[in-house]
Amino acid sequence: MNRDFIERVRETVDIVEYIGRYVDLKKSGKSYRGLCPFHQEKTPSFYVDPDKGVYHCFGCGASGNIFRFVMDIEGLSFREAVIKLAREYGIEVPSREVEGKTSPVYAALRFASDYYHEILMSPHGRDAYRYLMKRKIGPRAISSFKIGYAPSDGKSFITKAMTKNFDRGTLIQAGLARKTESGTIIDYFRGRLIFPIFTPGGNVIAFGGRALSDEVQPKYLNSPDSEIFKKGNILFGLFQAKSSIRMKGIAIVVEGYFDVIKMHQAGFQNTVAPMGTALTENQVLVLRRYTKNVLLLYDGDEAGRKAVERSIPIALRAGLNVKISLLPEGEDPDSIIDKFGPEGIRSYMDRQVDFLEYQFREAEKFRESPSEFSEAIKGILENIFMIPDGITRDAYLNRLSELSRIPVDSLRNQGLKFSGETGINKKSKRREVKLTADFIVLVNILRHKELVEIMSDLFNEEDFDDPLTRELFRGVKQGLGYEEIMASGSEVLRSSITEALLRSGNLHENLALLEEKIRLWKYRKDYRDAKRLFEDARKMGDRERMDFYLKKMYEIKKKLRGKGGLF
Ligand code: UTP
Ligand code: MN
Repeated sequence: MNRDFIERVRETVDIVEYIGRYVDLKKSGKSYRGLCPFHQEKTPSFYVDPDKGVYHCFGCGASGNIFRFVMDIEGLSFREAVIKLAREYGIEVPSREVEGKTSPVYAALRFASDYYHEILMSPHGRDAYRYLMKRKIGPRAISSFKIGYAPSDGKSFITKAMTKNFDRGTLIQAGLARKTESGTIIDYFRGRLIFPIFTPGGNVIAFGGRALSDEVQPKYLNSPDSEIFKKGNILFGLFQAKSSIRMKGIAIVVEGYFDVIKMHQAGFQNTVAPMGTALTENQVLVLRRYTKNVLLLYDGDEAGRKAVERSIPIALRAGLNVKISLLPEGEDPDSIIDKFGPEGIRSYMDRQVDFLEYQFREAEKFRESPSEFSEAIKGILENIFMIPDGITRDAYLNRLSELSRIPVDSLRNQGLKFSGETGINKKSKRREVKLTADFIVLVNILRHKELVEIMSDLFNEEDFDDPLTRELFRGVKQGLGYEEIMASGSEVLRSSITEALLRSGNLHENLALLEEKIRLWKYRKDYRDAKRLFEDARKMGDRERMDFYLKKMYEIKKKLRGKGGLF
C-alpha cells in the first residue's frame, strides 16, 4: 500500500478518540488507561499513548498501532483497516488501494462462488438440490451460505471462467483448477456440493466441497492451502455468525459444515466450525475479537473428545471462557436437529459445563487409581495455568480444590512447577524478551523514511545479532513501513516495538544520534568483514592479504576510539 496514504490516515485518526469508542479511557500522565478489550481484567493495564500512536496491554501483551487495533477489533486485514479508517475520517481512498479485493485471484473466487450457486439453482443442480432437501437444508440457508454445486464433467467451470478472461494461472492459484498429469487443466471441484468459505469481512477465499454420495472419497474436499487461504486461520460460518456472536456474547463451536448450517437454521446463528481439525491458536484469536465465551458442542465419540481436549488449552491461553457439551456418541448437531429439532439441540446446550467441571468428571473415572487420578488432576492444573488472568486462575484453583479435596496450596505449587512449559511462562517469557540497544535504535530509525532507505542499502539481516532485531530488519528489507510492521508483525515484535518506543523517550527526534549509530553499525560491519577476510587469508597462508586486512581492522578501531564500544 502507498506509504503516504497510510501516513495520512494515521495522522488524521485520533487514536484516543477511536479506541475510546471501545474502551473507557482515563487520562494517566501522558497516556490513557483503561480495561483491556482483548482480555478479561478487573484492574486497567491497557495503555494508549497518543504521542507515540500506540496501545499496549501490560496484562496480555496486546499491542500495536491504530491499524492493528482496528484489525483485531473488527476482524479486518491491514488493507481493510486502513481503508475503513480513511472512509470514516473522510479521507479519499486512492482507487488503486481498493484493488486488493479485485485482484484476479479474489475476483476468480467471487466469480466461482456465483457460478456454483447459479448451477445449484439451475436444472443442472437438480440432484444436488435434492440432496440438500434430503438433509433438510432450506432455501434461506442455501442463500445465506451461498451453497453451490460444481458439475461433474471436470471442465464446465474452467470453460465458463475462460470466457470471462480469467487465465489458467489465476484459476490454479485460486485453487479452482489443477493440472493433470498429462498437462491439461481440469476443474478442482467436480460433482460436489460447494460451501464457500468467507473471511469475516465477507470475501470468498476458498471452498469446501462435499461428495453427493458417501461412496466417494474424500467425503469433503477443501481448497488447497494458499497465500490467501490457510485452513487453520479461518472459521467456517464466522461471516454469517459474527453479529450474532457479538449480540449473544458467546460463540458455539461445532465440528462440521452441515452442523454450522443446521445450527443457524435452528436459530443458533452464533455457530462456527474449524475445518476438520481441533481449534487452532489463530482461530481462537480470531474468535476472541467477537467474544470471550465459547461453547464446544462436539460429538461424544473418541475423535470429538480428543478434539475437545486439544482445544481447551488453546482457548484458555487466549483468555477465553470455555464451556463444553458433548452429544451422545455418533451424533452431531446436524443429526440431533434432524431427530429432535431445535429443542433437541437446545437441551444439550443447556447441559453445558465449564471446562473444569468437564475435565474433573473425566478425571473422576480414575478415582480408584491414585496415580492415574493424580495424572488427570495434573492435566487439569496444566490447563488452569494457561489462563492469563491471575484472578480467574485463582478462582479455578479454588474450584478444583473444592472438587478434588486437595488443598489449594499444593495444587498451586504443583501447577507452578510445570507452568514452566506452558501458558503463563510463555507469556512472561514474551514480556521478558530483552530489548537490545540495536533494536531500540532501529525502532526509532524506522520513523525516518530517509534513514530507513540508507539502512536498507547498507545492511543485511545477518549484520544484526539478536533475532528480534533481525526480524524487524527483515521487514525493513521487504520495504514495509513502520505502520505496516506495527500492524502486521508478530505479537512479540509488536509488543517489543511498543516497549522500545515507551522506553526510548524522544530518541527519534535526535537525528544526529541516529545517524551516528548507523555510522557505527557500518564500522561494525566493515570490521567483521575485514576480520572474516583476514581469517580466510590466514587459512590460505597469504601473508600479504593478512597484513592488509589486519591494517584495515586496526584503522576501523582507531576511528572508533572514543565513540563507545560496539564490539
Ligand atoms: P465429519 O466426518 O464429522 O463430517 O467431519 P460431517 O460434518 O458430519 O459431514 P456430513 O454430515 O457427513 O456431511 C467433520 C468436518 O471435518 C472436515 C469437514 O469440515 C467436516 O465438516 N472434513 C471431514 C474434511 O475436511 N474432509 C473430510 O474428508 C472429512
Ligand atoms: Mn454430520
